[in-house]
Amino acid sequence: MSKTIIRFGVIGCGLMGKEFASAAARWCHLTQVDFAPSIVAVCDANASATQWFQENVPSVEAAYTDYKELLANPNIDAIYCAVPHNLHAQIYIDIIKAGKHLLGEKPFGIDQEANSLIQQAILESPHVIVRCSSEFPFFPGAQQIATWVEENKFGKIIEVEAGFWHSSDLDPTKLINWKRRTATNGEYGCMGDLGMHVLHLPLRFGWKPQSVRALLSKIVPNRPDGNGVMVPCETWDNAILACEVQTESQQFPMLLSTKRIAPGHANTWFIRITGTAFSAEFTTKNPKQVASLPYTPGGIQAWHVADAPYKSAYATITGGIFEFGFSDSILQMWAAFCDELVHNEAIQQPFYCATPEEAGDSHIIFTAALASYRTGQTIPIDWRN
Ligand SMILES: NC(=O)c1ccc[n+]([C@@H]2O[C@H](COP(=O)([O-])OP(=O)(O)OC[C@H]3O[C@@H](n4cnc5c(N)ncnc54)[C@H](O)[C@@H]3O)[C@@H](O)[C@H]2O)c1
Repeated sequence: MSKTIIRFGVIGCGLMGKEFASAAARWCHLTQVDFAPSIVAVCDANASATQWFQENVPSVEAAYTDYKELLANPNIDAIYCAVPHNLHAQIYIDIIKAGKHLLGEKPFGIDQEANSLIQQAILESPHVIVRCSSEFPFFPGAQQIATWVEENKFGKIIEVEAGFWHSSDLDPTKLINWKRRTATNGEYGCMGDLGMHVLHLPLRFGWKPQSVRALLSKIVPNRPDGNGVMVPCETWDNAILACEVQTESQQFPMLLSTKRIAPGHANTWFIRITGTAFSAEFTTKNPKQVASLPYTPGGIQAWHVADAPYKSAYATITGGIFEFGFSDSILQMWAAFCDELVHNEAIQQPFYCATPEEAGDSHIIFTAALASYRTGQTIPIDWRN
């Protein structure tokens, strides 16, 4: 199949920049796509970070330390931007104004004001396609849950719980980095870092909280800086958000949690929905399994745990009995983004990447959560504004 080549620039050649390069390098994994990304230029403020790309990605023609030079390159159609949160607003806005499509990393601005500036730039450039990175909903088990929600299987929803839990920060000897500093990561702390992952599916399902009560915790107050000095670890480690959701037909509690310090959880993303007719759960702890509990009045209440087949949004060479993993979800997310760039709304499967509106909604929730923790009150959210 001949493919439309999308010429990408990468701004921010750290952890996530390399994940994109790796996904682009195994594009042949996807069997039925008529498009492919080609990373032609890279930029990082730290010149040594671009070196990995020059050594490992043969399509790279140019490397920059100033992203404005990369944006001036007319051979670039689209940008992946993965930089610290304090740089999102300025760089995303410049990308959009340069007329390049953008897959930007969450949280899409360090705070709500930064996010509003990005939203404004998007409004002023409607021809540019902008999406927010969020890969976990592309796990087949998560896709199965989305299908069950679409099919309205749950009856009256009893409650929803979704979370993203890490454990590496339990180690007090782990060095400080930009993600532990308010100036670079933001006041949201763990919510800004992990929250969009948790909210992507609930927001896609239309489950916007009408109110939020937040409990935020700082567990490790200081960390080594790598030069023998202990420095303040400023950001929230863990956040628990008790939300009340009201839709046209449902009202239920939704508990959202983002934790950097959850002993035993390396990288656990999960969603659990219980309902009077059906309940379901998917967690990346058991990435191959999806659990469901159908219920008819008076009947048995038994969880069914099935191995979810490797049945991804975009078809791949992998057989249905094999396991799906993190890098597969990244590849699927990239397929969805590239599909939109080439086919606009006519993408080949229904699950599109997180939108800037969804990222904006996450900022409304995190800002309310900060206010809730500050005041000790439940904060109502008026979505009409
Ligand atoms: N989707 C996910 O699963 C996921 C996972 C981790 C991080 N992230 C997000 O990705 C983004 C980057 O995180 P990371 O873990 O890759 O961080 P990182 O620290 O590994 O990489 C960030 C890179 O940006 C570079 N940089 C800093 N200032 C720059 C500038 N002015 N111009 C160009 N480059 C600059 C740094 O030198 C560094 O190489 C953040 O928004 C983060 O929230 C997403």
